[in-house]
Amino acid sequence: MAEKRLNEHHIIDKILDSVEKNEDIVKKAVEILKEVPHYTWVGIYLIQGEDLVLKYYLGRPTEHTRIKIGQGICGAAVVDEQTVIVPDVSSDERYLACSVETKSEIVVPIWSKDRIIGEIDIDSDYPCAFDSEDKKMLEKIADVIGDVIQ
Ligand code: SME
Repeated sequence: MAEKRLNEHHIIDKILDSVEKNEDIVKKAVEILKEVPHYTWVGIYLIQGEDLVLKYYLGRPTEHTRIKIGQGICGAAVVDEQTVIVPDVSSDERYLACSVETKSEIVVPIWSKDRIIGEIDIDSDYPCAFDSEDKKMLEKIADVIGDVIQ
Protein backbone atom coordinates (compact mmCIF):
# COMPACT_ATOMS: atom_id res chain seq x y z
CA MET A 1 0.00 0.00 0.00
CA ALA A 2 2.03 2.93 -1.32
CA GLU A 3 -0.07 5.58 0.36
CA LYS A 4 0.20 4.34 3.90
CA ARG A 5 1.31 7.10 6.23
CA LEU A 6 0.45 7.27 9.89
CA ASN A 7 1.60 10.22 11.93
CA GLU A 8 0.51 8.92 15.29
CA HIS A 9 1.68 11.93 17.30
CA HIS A 10 -0.03 14.36 14.97
CA ILE A 11 -3.31 12.43 15.14
CA ILE A 12 -3.24 12.01 18.93
CA ASP A 13 -2.39 15.71 19.39
CA LYS A 14 -5.41 16.67 17.29
CA ILE A 15 -7.66 14.41 19.37
CA LEU A 16 -6.30 15.84 22.66
CA ASP A 17 -6.74 19.36 21.31
CA SER A 18 -10.37 18.62 20.56
CA VAL A 19 -10.85 17.24 24.10
CA GLU A 20 -9.42 20.46 25.52
CA LYS A 21 -11.84 22.47 23.45
CA ASN A 22 -14.71 20.36 24.78
CA GLU A 23 -15.77 19.33 21.30
CA ASP A 24 -17.93 16.29 20.56
CA ILE A 25 -15.18 13.68 20.86
CA VAL A 26 -17.05 10.96 18.96
CA LYS A 27 -17.60 13.17 15.93
CA LYS A 28 -14.15 14.77 16.06
CA ALA A 29 -12.30 11.47 16.44
CA VAL A 30 -14.10 10.10 13.37
CA GLU A 31 -13.29 13.26 11.39
CA ILE A 32 -9.62 13.19 12.36
CA LEU A 33 -9.21 9.46 11.67
CA LYS A 34 -10.96 9.71 8.30
CA GLU A 35 -8.01 11.84 7.12
CA VAL A 36 -5.73 8.78 7.19
CA PRO A 37 -5.47 7.75 3.53
CA HIS A 38 -6.10 4.02 3.99
CA TYR A 39 -9.04 4.50 6.39
CA THR A 40 -11.92 4.31 3.90
CA TRP A 41 -14.79 4.10 6.40
CA VAL A 42 -14.54 5.25 10.03
CA GLY A 43 -17.29 4.89 12.60
CA ILE A 44 -17.83 4.84 16.35
CA TYR A 45 -20.42 2.55 17.92
CA LEU A 46 -21.55 2.87 21.54
CA ILE A 47 -23.18 0.09 23.54
CA GLN A 48 -26.85 0.55 24.38
CA GLY A 49 -28.36 -2.45 26.14
CA GLU A 50 -27.52 -5.53 24.04
CA ASP A 51 -26.65 -3.55 20.93
CA LEU A 52 -23.82 -1.56 19.39
CA VAL A 53 -25.36 1.63 18.03
CA LEU A 54 -23.59 3.65 15.33
CA LYS A 55 -23.18 7.18 16.70
CA TYR A 56 -21.21 8.81 13.92
CA TYR A 57 -19.40 7.74 10.76
CA LEU A 58 -17.78 9.02 7.61
CA GLY A 59 -17.62 6.96 4.43
CA ARG A 60 -20.14 5.01 2.42
CA PRO A 61 -23.57 4.60 4.05
CA THR A 62 -24.07 1.33 5.95
CA GLU A 63 -27.14 -0.69 6.86
CA HIS A 64 -25.36 -1.82 10.04
CA THR A 65 -26.34 1.05 12.28
CA ARG A 66 -27.31 -1.31 15.12
CA ILE A 67 -25.43 -4.57 15.70
CA LYS A 68 -26.18 -7.18 18.36
CA ILE A 69 -23.25 -7.85 20.68
CA GLY A 70 -21.77 -11.12 19.41
CA GLN A 71 -22.65 -10.49 15.76
CA GLY A 72 -20.15 -9.46 13.10
CA ILE A 73 -16.56 -8.43 13.63
CA CYS A 74 -17.92 -5.53 15.68
CA GLY A 75 -19.76 -7.82 18.08
CA ALA A 76 -16.80 -10.20 18.28
CA ALA A 77 -14.48 -7.44 19.53
CA VAL A 78 -16.84 -6.81 22.47
CA VAL A 79 -17.21 -10.52 23.32
CA ASP A 80 -13.46 -11.18 22.97
CA GLU A 81 -12.67 -7.93 24.83
CA GLN A 82 -9.88 -7.12 22.41
CA THR A 83 -8.99 -5.44 19.15
CA VAL A 84 -9.84 -7.55 16.11
CA ILE A 85 -7.91 -7.14 12.85
CA VAL A 86 -9.30 -8.87 9.75
CA PRO A 87 -6.79 -8.70 6.86
CA ASP A 88 -9.24 -10.22 4.36
CA VAL A 89 -12.92 -9.76 5.18
CA SER A 90 -13.99 -12.22 2.46
CA SER A 91 -12.43 -15.08 4.38
CA ASP A 92 -13.94 -14.27 7.78
CA GLU A 93 -17.34 -15.87 8.44
CA ARG A 94 -18.18 -13.32 11.12
CA TYR A 95 -17.99 -10.41 8.69
CA LEU A 96 -21.14 -8.32 8.10
CA ALA A 97 -20.71 -6.64 4.73
CA CYS A 98 -21.15 -2.90 4.32
CA SER A 99 -19.67 -2.52 0.88
CA VAL A 100 -18.26 -4.91 -1.72
CA GLU A 101 -15.21 -2.66 -1.98
CA THR A 102 -14.18 -3.22 1.64
CA LYS A 103 -11.18 -5.55 1.87
CA SER A 104 -9.99 -5.33 5.49
CA GLU A 105 -11.23 -4.12 8.86
CA ILE A 106 -10.07 -3.25 12.38
CA VAL A 107 -12.34 -2.96 15.42
CA VAL A 108 -10.97 -1.45 18.64
CA PRO A 109 -12.95 -1.60 21.89
CA ILE A 110 -13.43 1.61 23.88
CA TRP A 111 -13.03 0.96 27.59
CA SER A 112 -14.29 3.09 30.44
CA LYS A 113 -12.73 1.91 33.68
CA ASP A 114 -13.30 -1.86 33.57
CA ARG A 115 -16.03 -2.17 30.96
CA ILE A 116 -16.38 -1.79 27.22
CA ILE A 117 -18.70 1.07 26.29
CA GLY A 118 -18.22 1.08 22.53
CA GLU A 119 -15.72 0.73 19.74
CA ILE A 120 -13.92 2.34 16.85
CA ASP A 121 -14.61 0.49 13.58
CA ILE A 122 -12.48 1.15 10.50
CA ASP A 123 -12.79 -0.44 7.04
CA SER A 124 -10.29 -0.18 4.24
CA ASP A 125 -10.60 -0.72 0.51
CA TYR A 126 -7.02 -2.06 0.70
CA PRO A 127 -6.42 -5.66 1.76
CA CYS A 128 -4.23 -6.14 4.87
CA ALA A 129 -4.47 -2.40 5.62
CA PHE A 130 -4.10 -2.63 9.40
CA ASP A 131 -1.03 -3.58 11.41
CA SER A 132 0.33 -3.23 14.93
CA GLU A 133 1.01 0.47 14.33
CA ASP A 134 -2.67 1.14 13.58
CA LYS A 135 -3.69 -1.00 16.56
CA LYS A 136 -1.38 0.84 18.99
CA MET A 137 -2.53 4.28 17.86
CA LEU A 138 -6.23 3.39 17.79
CA GLU A 139 -6.08 1.82 21.25
CA LYS A 140 -4.57 5.07 22.60
CA ILE A 141 -7.35 7.05 20.94
CA ALA A 142 -9.97 4.64 22.29
CA ASP A 143 -8.54 5.25 25.79
CA VAL A 144 -8.92 9.01 25.37
CA ILE A 145 -12.50 8.62 24.13
CA GLY A 146 -13.34 6.24 27.00
CA ASP A 147 -11.98 8.74 29.54
CA VAL A 148 -14.00 11.58 28.07
CA ILE A 149 -17.37 9.93 27.59
CA GLN A 150 -17.22 7.43 30.50
N1 SME B 1 -18.22 -5.08 9.09
C1 SME B 1 -18.79 -4.90 10.39
C2 SME B 1 -20.13 -4.24 10.32
C3 SME B 1 -20.07 -2.75 10.33
S1 SME B 1 -19.53 -2.09 8.87
O1 SME B 1 -18.08 -2.41 8.72
C4 SME B 1 -19.72 -0.49 8.83
C5 SME B 1 -18.89 -6.23 11.12
O2 SME B 1 -18.62 -7.27 10.53
O3 SME B 1 -19.26 -6.24 12.28
